[in-house]
Amino acid sequence: MKTSDQIPSAPLAEIRGISKRFGGVVALDQVNLTIRPGEVIGLVGDNGAGKSTLIKILSGAYLPDQGEILFEGQSVQIRNPRSSKDLGIETVYQDLALVDTLDVPGNIFLGREIVKFGFGPLRVLDKSQMAREAENILQRLGISLESLQAEVGLLSGGQRQSVAISRAILTEPKLIILDEPTAALAVMEVGHVLELVHNLREHNIGLVFISHVLQEVFEVADRIVVLRKGRKVADLVKEEASIDLVVNYMVGKIEEKKTHA
Ligand SMILES: Nc1ncnc2c1ncn2[C@@H]1O[C@H](COP(=O)(O)OP(=O)(O)O)[C@@H](O)[C@H]1O
Ligand SMILES: [Mg+2]
Repeated sequence: MKTSDQIPSAPLAEIRGISKRFGGVVALDQVNLTIRPGEVIGLVGDNGAGKSTLIKILSGAYLPDQGEILFEGQSVQIRNPRSSKDLGIETVYQDLALVDTLDVPGNIFLGREIVKFGFGPLRVLDKSQMAREAENILQRLGISLESLQAEVGLLSGGQRQSVAISRAILTEPKLIILDEPTAALAVMEVGHVLELVHNLREHNIGLVFISHVLQEVFEVADRIVVLRKGRKVADLVKEEASIDLVVNYMVGKIEEKKTHA
């Protein structure tokens, strides 16, 4: 079901007062953030601001020192990557972790292969079923690849990104985190990935999009959240933001004002 613009939907995830330190370094300091379904949050901040730490807490790579996470209204403990996935959170990291020698369906179904019969090393995979489902996902996302049989190592950066995102949506997650999805792409391909982010949002998935290219963030995000030295210093709906304003928050020219969660 799609939520209409008039009815604010219940939060998907609520991060409340999250803090994390590494030795003497305060990576996150009392961060609050609400993510709603169908919403794209652009998460920005200078190097070392705490972006990766925040998403790693959501993906179960780090435990917070303090604070609470609610998912669909329930207080949850995200202890490891498994428990993050079980909640319906998928993270696409910059390195993508694809297997270059496998084809497209092989990568989308990596670790979740559909088995025709047998088990362990003797199992026989249902390749045609995986190919059909891979095709479905790609179509749903508006991705067109010339051939699914191509080794993923031969695809372009943008196509690889599409495959990684397709793999992330295989389990029908509720929240997708994209860490710098356009960083390694040729300029021509950036548009495709941004379009893909748009398509995901129409499936009512919550999205966190990290990028240091503010033009891109403004193109896809509904809200822009700025971290600076571990603190959330701005949480702006796009319409009330501008690139200049965001930059001023990033570099500390405007001090933190009290923002909503
Ligand atoms: N595993 C870690 N060990 C020690 N310090 C870390 C670790 N991860 C992040 N930090 C520190 O925490 C701060 C925030 O880092 P990070 O979340 O990676 O920022 P960003 O992704 O915004 O560049 C930085 O000062 C960084 O050096
Ligand atoms: Mg980072």
